[in-house]
Amino acid sequence: MMQLTIIGFGNQARAWALNLRDSGFPVRIALRPGSSSESAARSSKLPLIEIGSSDFYQSDAVALLIPDDEQEKFLVTHGTKMKSGSRILYAHGYSVSRKSLEKKFPALEHILFAPKSIGTELRRQYEIKGKLGAVFSLEHVRGNKPETEIWLRTLASSLGITMGPYATTFLRETNADLYSEQGLLCSLIPYAASEMFRHLLEEGTEPELAYFECWHELKLIINAMIDKGPEGFFDLISPNALIGSEKGYQTLMTDEFKNRMRSLLNEIKSGAFDHEVESADVPALRKKISTRWTQDELNKTFLRINS
Ligand SMILES: NC(=O)c1ccc[n+]([C@@H]2O[C@H](COP(=O)([O-])OP(=O)(O)OC[C@H]3O[C@@H](n4cnc5c(N)ncnc54)[C@H](OP(=O)(O)O)[C@@H]3O)[C@@H](O)[C@H]2O)c1
Repeated sequence: MMQLTIIGFGNQARAWALNLRDSGFPVRIALRPGSSSESAARSSKLPLIEIGSSDFYQSDAVALLIPDDEQEKFLVTHGTKMKSGSRILYAHGYSVSRKSLEKKFPALEHILFAPKSIGTELRRQYEIKGKLGAVFSLEHVRGNKPETEIWLRTLASSLGITMGPYATTFLRETNADLYSEQGLLCSLIPYAASEMFRHLLEEGTEPELAYFECWHELKLIINAMIDKGPEGFFDLISPNALIGSEKGYQTLMTDEFKNRMRSLLNEIKSGAFDHEVESADVPALRKKISTRWTQDELNKTFLRINS
C-alpha cells in the first residue's frame, strides 16, 4: 500500500494521523524545521521526517493539511522539487479551485479528499465507530485513475469514513463548504442562539435554563436529526413543538430571508467573497470575534456551567 506523508500536525492532520495509524495504514508525518507541532507529533509515535529533506521529496503521496492560505506558498517552495506524479491530497478544495494550483504545478497529481468533519470529531467518531462522510475528486489526475481511486477508498475506510467517499469537483466542494459555513453552521446557529438567549434573559429567565434551551439542547436535537433524518425527526417531536415549528418556519423563513441566504451563495460563486478573503486581516478579525463572544452572556454562562 502506498504510504501517505501528512504535512503538519494541526486540527485535520492529527486526526488523519491517529486514525490511519490505528487502522494500520502506512503513514508518516512531515514538519518544517523548528515546528511548534513537533512534540505533539512525536507523541503519536509515527515516523517523523523534515519537510525539505530528500526523503520528503521522494514521497509518493502527501496530504497537505496546513491552512488553505499557506498551501500555494508551500508548493512554490517545495512543489517543483517533489517527485513527478506525486499525489497531493487536499482536505478542502479552496486553494486549488481558487488559485488553479493544478495548472501552476502540473507535474503533481492534485486530489481532493475532504472528510466532512472538523478534526476533533474525525478522531472522536473514529474512536466510537460513528458515522463520517467524505467527498473526493480525481478531476486533475492524469495518471491511472482507477488505481488511484482504489487507494483513496482504502484510505477513506482507514480514516473511518462510513458514508462515501462520494465524487464531486474541487469547485463544488469549495462553494458548498463556504455556503454552509456562512449560511448555517458558523453564523445562523451560534448567532440565533445568542440572540434568543439574550431575549430570554431580558424576560427574567434564569441563565442556566436559557443556556439549556438555546445551546446545550442543540447537540441533543441535532443527534436526533442526524439519526432519524428530517421526516423522522418531525415525527418525533411533541404536538406543541410541531405547531411551534410550523409557526417559526412561516414567520422566520420569509422571502427576504431566503433571498439574503441565496445572496451569500451568489457572492461565493461570483468571486466577491474571495476578494473579502484576500483583503481580510484574519488575526484582527479573530480578536474582534473573540472579544464579542467573551462579552456574550451565553458564553459566560457556558463557562460557568462547564467549569
Ligand atoms: N480545522 C478543521 O478541522 C478542518 C475541517 C475541514 C477541512 N479542513 C481543511 O484541512 C486543511 C488543514 O486545516 P487545519 O485547520 O487542520 O490547519 P491547522 O490546524 O491550522 O494547521 C496547522 C499545522 O500546519 C502547519 N503549517 C502551517 N503552515 C505551514 C507551512 N507553511 N509549512 C509547513 N507546515 C505548516 C503547522 O505547523 P507549525 O507547527 O510548524 O506551525 C501546524 O502543524 C485545510 O485545507 C482546511 O480547509 C480543516
